Amino acid sequence: MSDKVKIVIDGKDFEFPVIEGTENEKAIDISKLRSQTQYITIDNGFGNTGSCQSGITYLDGEKGILRYRGYPIEQIAEKSNFIECAYLLYFGELPTSSQLNKFKKGLKGHSLPKGIKDIIDSFPKTAHPMAVLAASMAALSGFSSKENLTVSTLDSEEVLSQMMEQICTITARFYRNSIGKRPINSDPSLSYVENFLYMMFGKKVDKEVAKALDTLLVLHADHEQNCSSSTVRMVGSSKANPYVCIASGVSALWGPLHGGANQEVMNMLEQIQRDGGDFKSALTRAKDKTNPFKLMGFGHRVYKNFDPRAKIIKAATETVLNKLGVKDPLLDVARGLEAEALKDPYFVERKLYPNVDFYSGIIYRALGIPTNMFTVLFAIGRLPGWMAQWKEMISSKEVIKIARPRQVYVGSLKRDYKSLKER
Ligand code: SDX
Repeated sequence: MSDKVKIVIDGKDFEFPVIEGTENEKAIDISKLRSQTQYITIDNGFGNTGSCQSGITYLDGEKGILRYRGYPIEQIAEKSNFIECAYLLYFGELPTSSQLNKFKKGLKGHSLPKGIKDIIDSFPKTAHPMAVLAASMAALSGFSSKENLTVSTLDSEEVLSQMMEQICTITARFYRNSIGKRPINSDPSLSYVENFLYMMFGKKVDKEVAKALDTLLVLHADHEQNCSSSTVRMVGSSKANPYVCIASGVSALWGPLHGGANQEVMNMLEQIQRDGGDFKSALTRAKDKTNPFKLMGFGHRVYKNFDPRAKIIKAATETVLNKLGVKDPLLDVARGLEAEALKDPYFVERKLYPNVDFYSGIIYRALGIPTNMFTVLFAIGRLPGWMAQWKEMISSKEVIKIARPRQVYVGSLKRDYKSLKER
Protein backbone atom coordinates (compact mmCIF):
# COMPACT_ATOMS: atom_id res chain seq x y z
CA MET A 1 0.00 0.00 0.00
CA SER A 2 1.44 3.42 -0.89
CA ASP A 3 1.93 5.79 2.06
CA LYS A 4 0.89 8.80 0.00
CA VAL A 5 -1.45 9.82 -2.80
CA LYS A 6 -1.03 12.40 -5.51
CA ILE A 7 -3.73 14.88 -6.50
CA VAL A 8 -3.31 16.85 -9.69
CA ILE A 9 -4.89 20.32 -9.67
CA ASP A 10 -4.57 22.54 -12.73
CA GLY A 11 -1.67 20.42 -13.91
CA LYS A 12 0.19 20.70 -10.60
CA ASP A 13 0.91 17.63 -8.46
CA PHE A 14 0.18 17.62 -4.74
CA GLU A 15 1.00 14.72 -2.47
CA PHE A 16 -0.81 13.83 0.75
CA PRO A 17 0.03 11.13 3.30
CA VAL A 18 -2.10 8.00 3.71
CA ILE A 19 -2.74 6.53 7.14
CA GLU A 20 -3.81 2.94 7.77
CA GLY A 21 -5.62 1.56 10.81
CA THR A 22 -5.26 -1.80 12.57
CA GLU A 23 -8.11 -3.17 10.43
CA ASN A 24 -6.42 -1.91 7.24
CA GLU A 25 -8.83 1.00 6.82
CA LYS A 26 -7.09 3.70 4.82
CA ALA A 27 -7.45 7.48 4.94
CA ILE A 28 -5.91 10.35 3.05
CA ASP A 29 -4.65 12.91 5.54
CA ILE A 30 -5.77 16.23 4.03
CA SER A 31 -4.86 18.43 7.01
CA LYS A 32 -2.61 20.49 4.68
CA LEU A 33 -4.92 20.46 1.63
CA ARG A 34 -6.14 24.07 1.91
CA SER A 35 -2.78 25.59 2.79
CA GLN A 36 -1.15 23.80 -0.16
CA THR A 37 -3.91 24.00 -2.79
CA GLN A 38 -6.44 26.63 -1.61
CA TYR A 39 -9.01 23.85 -2.13
CA ILE A 40 -11.16 22.26 0.56
CA THR A 41 -13.24 19.07 0.33
CA ILE A 42 -16.99 18.92 0.79
CA ASP A 43 -18.86 15.80 1.93
CA ASN A 44 -22.57 16.01 2.67
CA GLY A 45 -23.16 14.21 5.99
CA PHE A 46 -19.43 13.45 6.30
CA GLY A 47 -20.02 9.92 4.95
CA ASN A 48 -16.52 9.82 3.46
CA THR A 49 -14.75 11.97 6.04
CA GLY A 50 -12.94 10.64 9.11
CA SER A 51 -13.02 12.95 12.13
CA CYS A 52 -10.52 11.05 14.26
CA GLN A 53 -8.50 7.92 14.84
CA SER A 54 -10.19 5.85 17.53
CA GLY A 55 -9.57 2.56 19.30
CA ILE A 56 -12.96 2.21 20.96
CA THR A 57 -15.35 0.57 18.46
CA TYR A 58 -14.77 -1.08 15.11
CA LEU A 59 -17.53 -1.72 12.64
CA ASP A 60 -17.54 -3.07 9.14
CA GLY A 61 -20.80 -2.08 7.46
CA GLU A 62 -20.40 -4.40 4.49
CA LYS A 63 -19.75 -7.45 6.65
CA GLY A 64 -22.07 -6.50 9.53
CA ILE A 65 -19.24 -6.60 12.07
CA LEU A 66 -19.31 -4.68 15.37
CA ARG A 67 -16.63 -4.96 18.08
CA TYR A 68 -16.09 -3.05 21.33
CA ARG A 69 -12.35 -2.70 22.01
CA GLY A 70 -11.84 -5.71 19.72
CA TYR A 71 -14.43 -7.98 21.36
CA PRO A 72 -17.27 -9.08 18.99
CA ILE A 73 -20.64 -7.64 20.03
CA GLU A 74 -22.14 -11.14 19.93
CA GLN A 75 -19.74 -12.31 22.67
CA ILE A 76 -20.16 -9.17 24.79
CA ALA A 77 -23.96 -9.42 24.55
CA GLU A 78 -23.96 -13.10 25.48
CA LYS A 79 -21.19 -13.29 28.08
CA SER A 80 -20.75 -9.83 29.55
CA ASN A 81 -23.12 -7.25 31.06
CA PHE A 82 -23.72 -3.51 30.78
CA ILE A 83 -21.56 -2.40 33.72
CA GLU A 84 -18.59 -4.49 32.61
CA CYS A 85 -19.13 -3.29 29.03
CA ALA A 86 -19.20 0.35 30.21
CA TYR A 87 -15.88 -0.26 32.01
CA LEU A 88 -14.40 -1.89 28.88
CA LEU A 89 -15.43 0.98 26.60
CA TYR A 90 -14.21 3.64 29.00
CA PHE A 91 -10.94 2.11 30.24
CA GLY A 92 -10.12 -0.01 27.19
CA GLU A 93 -9.75 -3.37 28.94
CA LEU A 94 -12.08 -5.87 30.63
CA PRO A 95 -11.92 -5.25 34.40
CA THR A 96 -10.53 -7.61 37.01
CA SER A 97 -13.05 -8.54 39.69
CA SER A 98 -11.65 -5.94 42.10
CA GLN A 99 -11.75 -3.22 39.40
CA LEU A 100 -15.33 -4.19 38.54
CA ASN A 101 -16.42 -4.17 42.21
CA LYS A 102 -14.85 -0.74 42.69
CA PHE A 103 -16.57 0.56 39.54
CA LYS A 104 -19.94 -0.87 40.65
CA LYS A 105 -19.56 0.75 44.07
CA GLY A 106 -18.79 4.08 42.41
CA LEU A 107 -22.15 3.90 40.62
CA LYS A 108 -24.08 4.30 43.86
CA GLY A 109 -24.64 7.22 46.18
CA HIS A 110 -24.82 10.11 43.67
CA SER A 111 -28.12 11.51 44.90
CA LEU A 112 -29.69 14.19 42.72
CA PRO A 113 -29.19 17.77 43.95
CA LYS A 114 -32.48 19.39 44.98
CA GLY A 115 -32.11 21.93 42.18
CA ILE A 116 -32.07 19.14 39.59
CA LYS A 117 -35.14 17.57 41.17
CA ASP A 118 -36.86 20.97 40.95
CA ILE A 119 -35.92 21.22 37.24
CA ILE A 120 -37.37 17.76 36.55
CA ASP A 121 -40.48 18.53 38.58
CA SER A 122 -40.96 21.83 36.75
CA PHE A 123 -41.66 20.04 33.44
CA PRO A 124 -45.29 19.41 32.46
CA LYS A 125 -46.30 15.73 32.54
CA THR A 126 -46.70 15.92 28.76
CA ALA A 127 -43.08 16.99 28.16
CA HIS A 128 -41.01 14.63 26.03
CA PRO A 129 -38.60 12.79 28.37
CA MET A 130 -35.65 13.61 26.08
CA ALA A 131 -36.27 17.32 26.76
CA VAL A 132 -36.09 16.61 30.49
CA LEU A 133 -32.94 14.52 30.08
CA ALA A 134 -31.08 17.03 27.89
CA ALA A 135 -31.93 19.87 30.27
CA SER A 136 -31.03 17.90 33.39
CA MET A 137 -27.70 16.61 32.05
CA ALA A 138 -26.63 20.14 31.12
CA ALA A 139 -27.92 21.50 34.45
CA LEU A 140 -25.74 18.97 36.34
CA SER A 141 -22.77 21.14 35.34
CA GLY A 142 -24.23 23.88 37.51
CA PHE A 143 -24.18 21.64 40.55
CA SER A 144 -20.85 19.89 40.02
CA SER A 145 -17.51 20.37 41.72
CA LYS A 146 -14.97 22.50 39.88
CA GLU A 147 -12.55 19.64 39.24
CA ASN A 148 -15.30 17.61 37.60
CA LEU A 149 -15.81 20.46 35.18
CA THR A 150 -12.24 20.97 34.07
CA VAL A 151 -11.48 19.39 30.76
CA SER A 152 -8.11 18.19 32.03
CA THR A 153 -9.90 15.62 34.24
CA LEU A 154 -8.39 12.83 32.18
CA ASP A 155 -9.53 10.10 34.51
CA SER A 156 -13.11 11.30 34.80
CA GLU A 157 -14.41 7.96 36.15
CA GLU A 158 -16.15 9.93 38.91
CA VAL A 159 -18.08 11.97 36.29
CA LEU A 160 -18.95 8.82 34.32
CA SER A 161 -20.19 7.02 37.45
CA GLN A 162 -22.16 10.04 38.62
CA MET A 163 -23.84 10.48 35.24
CA MET A 164 -24.56 6.77 34.81
CA GLU A 165 -26.43 6.71 38.12
CA GLN A 166 -28.12 10.06 37.72
CA ILE A 167 -29.36 9.44 34.15
CA CYS A 168 -31.45 6.60 35.64
CA THR A 169 -32.66 8.66 38.59
CA ILE A 170 -33.61 11.58 36.34
CA THR A 171 -35.47 9.27 33.94
CA ALA A 172 -37.35 7.41 36.66
CA ARG A 173 -38.27 10.60 38.55
CA PHE A 174 -39.79 12.22 35.48
CA TYR A 175 -41.63 9.02 34.55
CA ARG A 176 -43.19 8.83 38.03
CA ASN A 177 -44.15 12.51 37.80
CA SER A 178 -45.74 11.91 34.38
CA ILE A 179 -48.03 9.22 35.79
CA GLY A 180 -48.86 11.23 38.89
CA LYS A 181 -46.88 8.99 41.24
CA ARG A 182 -44.26 9.87 43.85
CA PRO A 183 -40.59 9.20 42.96
CA ILE A 184 -39.10 5.98 44.36
CA ASN A 185 -35.68 6.16 45.99
CA SER A 186 -32.84 4.09 44.65
CA ASP A 187 -32.29 0.69 46.29
CA PRO A 188 -28.50 0.18 46.49
CA SER A 189 -28.96 -3.55 47.13
CA LEU A 190 -30.17 -4.00 43.53
CA SER A 191 -28.13 -4.25 40.33
CA TYR A 192 -27.93 -1.23 38.03
CA VAL A 193 -30.76 -2.37 35.73
CA GLU A 194 -32.92 -3.89 38.51
CA ASN A 195 -32.62 -0.61 40.41
CA PHE A 196 -33.62 1.43 37.35
CA LEU A 197 -36.73 -0.72 36.79
CA TYR A 198 -37.48 -0.56 40.53
CA MET A 199 -37.31 3.26 40.53
CA MET A 200 -39.55 3.27 37.46
CA PHE A 201 -42.21 0.74 38.42
CA GLY A 202 -41.78 0.16 42.16
CA LYS A 203 -41.37 -3.55 41.79
CA LYS A 204 -38.47 -5.95 41.78
CA VAL A 205 -38.19 -7.70 38.43
CA ASP A 206 -36.90 -11.19 37.86
CA LYS A 207 -33.34 -11.76 36.74
CA GLU A 208 -34.33 -12.76 33.19
CA VAL A 209 -36.22 -9.52 32.64
CA ALA A 210 -33.34 -7.48 34.03
CA LYS A 211 -30.94 -9.42 31.80
CA ALA A 212 -33.03 -8.57 28.71
CA LEU A 213 -32.79 -4.85 29.41
CA ASP A 214 -29.12 -5.20 30.36
CA THR A 215 -28.45 -6.77 26.95
CA LEU A 216 -30.28 -3.93 25.18
CA LEU A 217 -28.10 -1.41 27.03
CA VAL A 218 -24.97 -3.36 25.99
CA LEU A 219 -26.09 -3.30 22.35
CA HIS A 220 -26.57 0.49 22.48
CA ALA A 221 -23.37 1.27 24.39
CA ASP A 222 -21.25 2.63 21.54
CA HIS A 223 -21.21 2.82 17.77
CA GLU A 224 -18.05 4.76 16.79
CA GLN A 225 -18.55 8.17 15.14
CA ASN A 226 -22.36 8.26 14.80
CA CYS A 227 -24.23 11.56 14.83
CA SER A 228 -24.51 11.89 18.63
CA SER A 229 -20.98 10.68 19.43
CA SER A 230 -19.58 13.08 16.83
CA THR A 231 -21.62 15.83 18.47
CA VAL A 232 -20.14 15.00 21.86
CA ARG A 233 -16.66 15.21 20.33
CA MET A 234 -17.49 18.44 18.50
CA VAL A 235 -18.69 20.15 21.69
CA GLY A 236 -15.82 18.62 23.67
CA SER A 237 -13.27 19.99 21.21
CA SER A 238 -14.02 23.51 22.49
CA LYS A 239 -13.03 22.23 25.97
CA ALA A 240 -16.60 22.50 27.22
CA ASN A 241 -17.29 20.42 30.33
CA PRO A 242 -18.38 16.76 30.04
CA TYR A 243 -21.92 17.40 31.32
CA VAL A 244 -22.84 19.76 28.48
CA CYS A 245 -21.02 17.47 26.01
CA ILE A 246 -23.29 14.61 27.07
CA ALA A 247 -26.33 16.92 26.99
CA SER A 248 -25.43 17.72 23.36
CA GLY A 249 -25.22 13.99 22.63
CA VAL A 250 -28.69 13.50 24.13
CA SER A 251 -29.99 16.31 21.91
CA ALA A 252 -28.51 14.84 18.73
CA LEU A 253 -29.77 11.35 19.61
CA TRP A 254 -33.37 12.64 19.92
CA GLY A 255 -33.74 13.11 16.16
CA PRO A 256 -36.00 10.53 14.42
CA LEU A 257 -33.25 9.68 11.94
CA HIS A 258 -30.99 8.68 14.84
CA GLY A 259 -31.98 7.45 18.29
CA GLY A 260 -35.51 8.82 17.96
CA ALA A 261 -36.17 6.11 15.35
CA ASN A 262 -37.06 3.47 17.97
CA GLN A 263 -40.08 5.52 19.04
CA GLU A 264 -41.02 6.16 15.39
CA VAL A 265 -40.81 2.43 14.59
CA MET A 266 -43.57 1.74 17.15
CA ASN A 267 -45.72 4.57 15.77
CA MET A 268 -45.22 3.10 12.28
CA LEU A 269 -46.06 -0.48 13.37
CA GLU A 270 -49.16 0.75 15.22
CA GLN A 271 -50.27 2.62 12.09
CA ILE A 272 -49.80 -0.51 9.97
CA GLN A 273 -51.78 -2.48 12.54
CA ARG A 274 -54.58 0.12 12.39
CA ASP A 275 -54.49 -0.20 8.59
CA GLY A 276 -55.20 -3.91 9.04
CA GLY A 277 -51.60 -5.04 8.50
CA ASP A 278 -51.26 -3.21 5.19
CA PHE A 279 -47.46 -3.40 4.78
CA LYS A 280 -47.66 -2.46 1.14
CA SER A 281 -48.83 1.11 1.76
CA ALA A 282 -45.99 1.69 4.25
CA LEU A 283 -43.47 0.36 1.75
CA THR A 284 -45.02 2.44 -1.05
CA ARG A 285 -44.82 5.61 1.04
CA ALA A 286 -41.22 4.81 2.03
CA LYS A 287 -40.24 4.43 -1.64
CA ASP A 288 -42.05 7.56 -2.80
CA LYS A 289 -39.40 10.27 -3.12
CA THR A 290 -42.07 12.96 -2.85
CA ASN A 291 -43.09 11.56 0.53
CA PRO A 292 -40.81 12.36 3.51
CA PHE A 293 -41.85 9.06 5.16
CA LYS A 294 -38.99 6.61 5.70
CA LEU A 295 -39.31 2.99 6.80
CA MET A 296 -38.28 3.61 10.39
CA GLY A 297 -35.80 1.12 11.83
CA PHE A 298 -34.54 0.33 8.34
CA GLY A 299 -31.35 1.45 6.65
CA HIS A 300 -28.10 2.73 8.06
CA ARG A 301 -25.33 5.14 7.09
CA VAL A 302 -22.71 2.42 7.58
CA TYR A 303 -24.35 -1.01 7.64
CA LYS A 304 -25.12 -2.23 4.14
CA ASN A 305 -25.81 -5.64 5.64
CA PHE A 306 -27.81 -6.73 8.66
CA ASP A 307 -27.04 -4.59 11.73
CA PRO A 308 -25.59 -7.30 14.03
CA ARG A 309 -27.41 -5.70 16.96
CA ALA A 310 -30.76 -6.08 15.19
CA LYS A 311 -30.12 -9.79 14.79
CA ILE A 312 -29.43 -10.21 18.51
CA ILE A 313 -32.45 -8.10 19.53
CA LYS A 314 -34.75 -9.95 17.12
CA ALA A 315 -33.66 -13.28 18.59
CA ALA A 316 -34.08 -11.97 22.17
CA THR A 317 -37.54 -10.54 21.52
CA GLU A 318 -39.32 -13.89 21.40
CA THR A 319 -37.53 -15.15 24.52
CA VAL A 320 -38.36 -12.01 26.51
CA LEU A 321 -42.03 -11.95 25.44
CA ASN A 322 -42.40 -15.64 26.31
CA LYS A 323 -40.66 -15.06 29.69
CA LEU A 324 -43.01 -12.19 30.42
CA GLY A 325 -46.04 -14.05 29.07
CA VAL A 326 -46.62 -11.13 26.71
CA LYS A 327 -48.19 -11.61 23.29
CA ASP A 328 -47.55 -8.45 21.29
CA PRO A 329 -49.31 -8.36 17.90
CA LEU A 330 -46.82 -5.68 16.84
CA LEU A 331 -44.12 -8.34 16.80
CA ASP A 332 -46.01 -10.13 14.02
CA VAL A 333 -46.47 -6.80 12.23
CA ALA A 334 -42.72 -6.13 12.50
CA ARG A 335 -41.85 -9.58 11.21
CA GLY A 336 -44.29 -9.25 8.31
CA LEU A 337 -43.00 -5.82 7.36
CA GLU A 338 -39.39 -7.01 7.51
CA ALA A 339 -40.18 -10.00 5.29
CA GLU A 340 -41.93 -7.77 2.72
CA ALA A 341 -39.16 -5.17 2.71
CA LEU A 342 -36.36 -7.72 2.40
CA LYS A 343 -37.85 -8.99 -0.85
CA ASP A 344 -38.69 -5.58 -2.27
CA PRO A 345 -36.19 -4.53 -5.00
CA TYR A 346 -36.09 -0.93 -3.69
CA PHE A 347 -34.75 -2.08 -0.32
CA VAL A 348 -32.65 -4.92 -1.72
CA GLU A 349 -30.88 -2.70 -4.30
CA ARG A 350 -30.16 -0.06 -1.65
CA LYS A 351 -29.01 -2.67 0.90
CA LEU A 352 -31.53 -1.45 3.47
CA TYR A 353 -31.83 -3.86 6.39
CA PRO A 354 -33.35 -3.62 9.88
CA ASN A 355 -31.14 -1.61 12.22
CA VAL A 356 -30.82 -1.56 16.01
CA ASP A 357 -34.06 0.38 16.36
CA PHE A 358 -36.37 -1.96 14.45
CA TYR A 359 -37.07 -4.56 17.13
CA SER A 360 -35.83 -2.86 20.32
CA GLY A 361 -39.15 -1.11 20.95
CA ILE A 362 -41.00 -4.43 21.12
CA ILE A 363 -38.88 -5.46 24.11
CA TYR A 364 -39.08 -2.04 25.77
CA ARG A 365 -42.88 -2.19 25.43
CA ALA A 366 -42.98 -5.67 26.93
CA LEU A 367 -40.99 -4.32 29.90
CA GLY A 368 -43.61 -1.61 30.38
CA ILE A 369 -41.44 1.27 29.16
CA PRO A 370 -43.69 3.93 27.56
CA THR A 371 -42.98 4.59 23.86
CA ASN A 372 -41.91 8.19 24.42
CA MET A 373 -39.12 6.93 26.71
CA PHE A 374 -37.55 4.51 24.21
CA THR A 375 -34.94 7.05 23.11
CA VAL A 376 -34.12 7.78 26.74
CA LEU A 377 -33.30 4.08 27.12
CA PHE A 378 -31.03 4.42 24.08
CA ALA A 379 -29.28 7.34 25.83
CA ILE A 380 -28.84 5.34 29.06
CA GLY A 381 -27.12 2.65 27.00
CA ARG A 382 -25.03 5.10 24.94
CA LEU A 383 -23.79 7.21 27.87
CA PRO A 384 -20.62 5.13 28.52
CA GLY A 385 -19.83 5.20 24.81
CA TRP A 386 -20.21 8.96 24.66
CA MET A 387 -17.97 9.36 27.71
CA ALA A 388 -15.39 6.94 26.24
CA GLN A 389 -15.32 8.96 23.00
CA TRP A 390 -15.02 12.24 24.96
CA LYS A 391 -12.22 10.88 27.15
CA GLU A 392 -10.32 9.47 24.15
CA MET A 393 -10.48 12.88 22.54
CA ILE A 394 -9.44 15.00 25.55
CA SER A 395 -6.64 12.62 26.52
CA SER A 396 -5.24 12.12 23.01
CA LYS A 397 -1.54 12.76 22.62
CA GLU A 398 -2.26 15.11 19.73
CA VAL A 399 -3.16 18.68 20.64
CA ILE A 400 -6.96 18.97 20.76
CA LYS A 401 -7.93 20.99 17.70
CA ILE A 402 -11.24 22.76 18.03
CA ALA A 403 -13.61 21.29 15.43
CA ARG A 404 -14.18 24.02 12.87
CA PRO A 405 -15.23 22.82 9.38
CA ARG A 406 -14.91 25.15 6.38
CA GLN A 407 -17.59 25.95 3.75
CA VAL A 408 -18.05 26.89 0.13
CA TYR A 409 -19.77 30.31 0.11
CA VAL A 410 -22.69 30.54 -2.33
CA GLY A 411 -24.31 33.76 -1.11
CA SER A 412 -24.44 37.33 -2.48
CA LEU A 413 -21.34 38.98 -3.90
CA LYS A 414 -20.10 42.23 -2.31
CA ARG A 415 -22.77 44.98 -2.30
CA ASP A 416 -23.18 48.35 -0.55
CA TYR A 417 -25.63 49.02 2.21
CA LYS A 418 -28.85 50.82 1.24
CA SER A 419 -30.72 52.94 3.76
CA LEU A 420 -34.44 52.38 4.26
CA LYS A 421 -35.21 55.31 1.96
CA GLU A 422 -33.10 53.81 -0.88
CA ARG A 423 -34.70 50.29 -0.76
C1 SDX B 1 -29.19 4.81 14.48
O1 SDX B 1 -24.79 6.10 12.70
C2 SDX B 1 -25.05 5.19 13.59
O2 SDX B 1 -24.20 4.38 13.94
C3 SDX B 1 -26.43 5.31 14.21
C4 SDX B 1 -26.84 4.18 15.13
C5 SDX B 1 -26.02 4.18 16.41
O3 SDX B 1 -25.95 3.11 17.06
O4 SDX B 1 -25.57 5.28 16.83
O5 SDX B 1 -26.70 2.93 14.50
C6 SDX B 1 -28.30 4.34 15.57
O6 SDX B 1 -29.38 6.00 14.35
C7 SDX B 1 -29.76 3.81 13.50
C8 SDX B 1 -30.58 4.48 12.35
C9 SDX B 1 -31.98 4.80 12.92
N1 SDX B 1 -32.73 5.59 11.91
C10 SDX B 1 -33.76 5.05 11.24
O7 SDX B 1 -34.13 3.87 11.32
C11 SDX B 1 -34.51 6.04 10.36
C12 SDX B 1 -34.78 5.41 9.00
N2 SDX B 1 -33.52 5.28 8.28
C13 SDX B 1 -33.17 6.28 7.31
O8 SDX B 1 -33.60 7.57 7.66
C14 SDX B 1 -31.71 6.18 6.85
O9 SDX B 1 -31.50 4.87 6.53
C15 SDX B 1 -30.59 6.67 7.76
C16 SDX B 1 -30.84 8.04 8.26
C17 SDX B 1 -30.40 5.73 8.88
C18 SDX B 1 -29.35 6.66 6.91
O10 SDX B 1 -29.52 7.69 5.96
P1 SDX B 1 -28.58 7.78 4.71
O11 SDX B 1 -27.17 7.48 5.06
O12 SDX B 1 -28.88 9.05 4.01
O13 SDX B 1 -29.11 6.57 3.84
P2 SDX B 1 -28.45 6.10 2.53
O14 SDX B 1 -27.51 7.10 1.94
O15 SDX B 1 -27.95 4.72 2.80
O16 SDX B 1 -29.72 6.00 1.54
C19 SDX B 1 -29.53 5.36 0.28
C20 SDX B 1 -30.89 5.33 -0.38
C21 SDX B 1 -31.54 6.69 -0.55
O17 SDX B 1 -32.39 6.60 -1.66
P3 SDX B 1 -31.81 7.00 -3.18
O18 SDX B 1 -31.38 8.46 -3.06
O19 SDX B 1 -30.63 6.06 -3.44
O20 SDX B 1 -32.97 6.77 -4.10
O21 SDX B 1 -31.81 4.57 0.45
C22 SDX B 1 -32.88 5.41 0.80
C23 SDX B 1 -32.40 6.82 0.67
O22 SDX B 1 -33.52 7.69 0.45
N3 SDX B 1 -33.25 5.07 2.19
C24 SDX B 1 -34.48 4.80 2.62
C25 SDX B 1 -34.36 4.49 3.97
N4 SDX B 1 -33.07 4.58 4.33
C26 SDX B 1 -32.39 4.95 3.23
N5 SDX B 1 -35.67 4.80 1.96
C27 SDX B 1 -36.75 4.48 2.72
N6 SDX B 1 -36.72 4.16 4.02
C28 SDX B 1 -35.54 4.16 4.69
N7 SDX B 1 -35.51 3.84 5.97
